[in-house]
Amino acid sequence: MFQMGCAARRGAAMVSKTSGSYVPWSKERTIEVVDKHRCERGPLMPILHELQEMFGYIDPDAVDLLASELNLSKADVHGVVTFYKDFRSDSAGDSVIRLCRGEACQSMGAEELARHALEHLGIGFGATTPDGAVTLEQVFCLGNCALSPAVMVEGRLKGRVDESVSTRSSTNLRRGRGDGCCHGVRAPRRRSAFCGRRRGRGRHRA
Ligand code: FES
Repeated sequence: MFQMGCAARRGAAMVSKTSGSYVPWSKERTIEVVDKHRCERGPLMPILHELQEMFGYIDPDAVDLLASELNLSKADVHGVVTFYKDFRSDSAGDSVIRLCRGEACQSMGAEELARHALEHLGIGFGATTPDGAVTLEQVFCLGNCALSPAVMVEGRLKGRVDESVSTRSSTNLRRGRGDGCCHGVRAPRRRSAFCGRRRGRGRHRA
């Protein structure tokens, strides 16, 4: 009976993110996400991931709400949010660029790429452009070392990125045109798992 109630709530909790931007934080939507996961084992992480994806960050009020809804202490929830780098505690821009500064990427020019991105966007790591379009973050491995230097743009992984790609992506994002897919990426000889492009043939996958 209890399981059926959970399934019904899960079905009812059809919440979605506005295309290309985040939904403003609200208590109601947060409760919907909680209801969707509350019957799972260890619901906190999936809830936090979904909130992060929906709102772009974990609102401080959500921490209190999750603690009371999941019967946890505020310190427990806060501890998880602050421990994992994937979770933000303040709102991000419409798009997030994550630039890898891990060892493999550094050896392939990530520092130069980082300097270029900082200069081009005119912000520091962890900051958002004044127009609210782009947030720039640094990470220390995206699991794409074989195709370094790597970046993640709006959740999509890109490998063998050079300055022209960085510039194009950030410029397009600020103009609200997406990131321009993988144009300008120095494509490997074989078709990459991260880029559907084959030179001279067909279209890219987005
Ligand atoms: S070090 Fe950059 S993807 Fe692994």
